[in-house]
Amino acid sequence: MAQFDASDLKKIGVYTSGGDAPGMNAALRAVVRVAINDGLEVMAIHHGYVGMMENEITVLERGSMANIIQRGGTIIKTGRSLEFMKPEGRKKAAANLKAHGIQALVCIGGDGSFRGAHALWQEHQIPTIGLPGTIDNDVHGTDTTIGFDTAVNTALDAIDKIRDTAASHDRLFIVEVMGRNSGFIATEVGLAGGAEDVVIPENQSSVDDIITKIQKGVARGKKSSIVVIAEGQKPGRAYDLAEAIRKKSNMDAKVAILGHIQRGGSPTAADRNLASRLGAAAVTALRKGVCDVMAGLKAGEVAFTPLEDTFSRHKTVRKDLLPLIQVLGS
Ligand code: F6P
Repeated sequence: MAQFDASDLKKIGVYTSGGDAPGMNAALRAVVRVAINDGLEVMAIHHGYVGMMENEITVLERGSMANIIQRGGTIIKTGRSLEFMKPEGRKKAAANLKAHGIQALVCIGGDGSFRGAHALWQEHQIPTIGLPGTIDNDVHGTDTTIGFDTAVNTALDAIDKIRDTAASHDRLFIVEVMGRNSGFIATEVGLAGGAEDVVIPENQSSVDDIITKIQKGVARGKKSSIVVIAEGQKPGRAYDLAEAIRKKSNMDAKVAILGHIQRGGSPTAADRNLASRLGAAAVTALRKGVCDVMAGLKAGEVAFTPLEDTFSRHKTVRKDLLPLIQVLGS
């Protein structure tokens, strides 16, 4: 684990980065309150790396964290930045941080955000601890990410509702959930929602296979079905799948794309508590001079992983759940 001299640590900065996730506010609250409790000053960097480069940096008071633990989104805003991917962007950001006297950072985001934080440490010696905040759960080094549980429950609620109408009309529905390049939400919600099949980027399933599975169910008397598909690279794959099913069989398929609904809403207890524990652990670790790592949760305990591993190593979805989903949904 990388180390820096924290003997004179007085001021830290915190930012949320990438796609927002329910529980980011709870993580922010934990970072700010633990840091202030420990005698540190905390500054908010608004809009993630965009605000870091544009100098959108303000002081955070303990009181400004009141009443946010239950709120979705992120009160300090977030952003995605191509400019920060370049050394000139990071140079601009580092100069702003140094001008404010910010000595260390807490970054709440996903693997792309950690890539930026790691570069900031390597090029400008600005120490950072990452907190995994993304609904996708696709970050190596943690069993679960802040926002994943809420997103899964939001999608599950929608699928339960779709099942009512699917059953009433004897219909097949293709439900698309989020997850850029990853099938964590699709797999989790497919199992919990009793889906007949799940299509994820990590496991190529053919249209013929999907049709065969659904038709087997129909032959046994099944009247309605739900197939969950992860969006993958391009949202809208559900329409392609529905079209392919229509062309290759006599079945019609309705489409529901859940989209950004999955990113909003009040975080579940699991997400609030994960965020609170990891936020506190990040501040404690920074005060000990630990940096360039992510605080995650492994087997129920806080565990630190080098930031570089979080984006260079791949977290694999539990493919063993796919056959179980198919058996239980048949
Ligand atoms: O990374 C979280 C996520 O919600 C992905 O699941 C999704 O592909 C992406 O963000 C969408 O990003 P944006 O809101 O920028 O379109």
